[in-house]
Order: sequence, then structure tokens, then C-alpha cells
Amino acid sequence: MSKDFYTAVKNRRSIYTIGKEKVVTEERIEQVVKQAVKHTPYAFNATSGRVVLLFDEHHDKLWNITKETLRKIVPEADFPATEDRINSFANGYGTVLFFEDQEVIEGLQKQMELYKDNFPIWSEQASGMLQFVIWTSLELEGLGVSLQHYNPLIDKGVKEKWGIPNTWKMRAQMPFGNPTAPPKEKEFSSVEERMKVFK
Ligand SMILES: Cc1cc2nc3c(=O)[nH]c(=O)nc-3n(C[C@H](O)[C@H](O)[C@H](O)COP(=O)(O)O)c2cc1C
Repeated sequence: MSKDFYTAVKNRRSIYTIGKEKVVTEERIEQVVKQAVKHTPYAFNATSGRVVLLFDEHHDKLWNITKETLRKIVPEADFPATEDRINSFANGYGTVLFFEDQEVIEGLQKQMELYKDNFPIWSEQASGMLQFVIWTSLELEGLGVSLQHYNPLIDKGVKEKWGIPNTWKMRAQMPFGNPTAPPKEKEFSSVEERMKVFK
């Protein structure tokens, strides 16, 4: 699939209705995620971003861990709605997990005392960039994608299941699948109010 960058940016949406039909090969998904991991910038080229790509039964297991974790803490009466939401992500066939390696960040803080307070902020900013690049890339490939935050609730279950190093701090989960319905109408606030131009 080939679309220009501007169209891809415009078309990237949160898609909550997804299915398990493999509209793109796993190899292709792996390739575009690798490309994003390689080329997304990090402050001081710190590359503290870490990604775990889960397909099929691994994806199902993630959303099962999430569901069972939430079952223990969400009031029983509210749980059906929670379960529906989790099932809507499980309906897809893959999830990208985003982490930031705290060991890298702490190392830089020791090396560059002057920027000590900035490194954790830059790590979050760069992780956001990485998330955006992957989100947009997956959209370009024809997938329906959304961004979720069940961390830190699921951190322990995820670390145990996939042997994630203790220094990797989970930042987000990005479930994807074939889109089965278009996104909701989106409201746009005034760009003119949000942007000043001097020329
Ligand atoms: C930093 C960030 C955090 C988000 N967290 C969540 C989330 O936890 N759950 C969710 O369903 N959507 C989440 N979203 C999606 C936003 O709600 C969504 O991007 C926004 O409403 C605009 O809609 P669009 O993605 O369709 O353009 C997040 C988006 C961003 C950029």
C-alpha cells in the first residue's frame, strides 16, 4: 500500500472495531515496526524505546491477562462494560507493547547531571513519537489500530508471561486487526486558535 505521509497522518484514527482477518502478513507488520524502532529519534540518540510485538495466541493472552486483572478490581456491576471493551481489543490479532528502558535513562542521568530532570521527560516524548510512527504505519498498511493504557495494572502479568526485563517500564498497548467499521466522526478544535504564525 502506498500513500503519502500527509494522507497517512490524516487517516490515522482510533479504530475500536477490529477483527482477526489477516489483511497484512506478520512479516510485513514486523518490518514496519522494526523500521519505526530504528528510525524514530530519541534525545541524545538514547534509544531507550523497547517494543514487544504479540500475534495471535500471544495477543489473546495479553487481553486475557488484562481482563483477569481488571476482574479483580472493577466493581462487579461495572465489569460487563469493561469486559466488552477488553473483548473489542482481543477481537484483533496483534498488539504492540511499548516500554522505556529505565536503565538507559538512569545511565544518562548519571552521565549528564545537567539534564538529569529532562531525561525521563524526553523518554516519554520519544516514546510518544515511536507510538505515533507505529500507529500511522499500521494504518498505512490497512490495519485498524488504537492506543491503550492498562499499565501499570498489567505490568506484573506481562513481565512474567513474556520474561520482560525488570528495567523495561511499560508505557502503552496498541491493539490492531482488520478494521470492521469506520471510526466515529471526529470534532476538530480551531487550528487558528492553537497556532500562531509570524511572517
Ligand atoms: C497520548 C495518548 C493517550 C491515549 N490514551 C488512550 C487510551 O488509553 N485509551 C483509548 O481508547 N484511547 C486513547 N487515546 C486515543 C485518543 O483518545 C484519540 O487519539 C483522540 O480522541 C483522537 O481520536 P483519533 O485517534 O481517532 O484521531 C490516546 C491518545 C493519545 C495521543
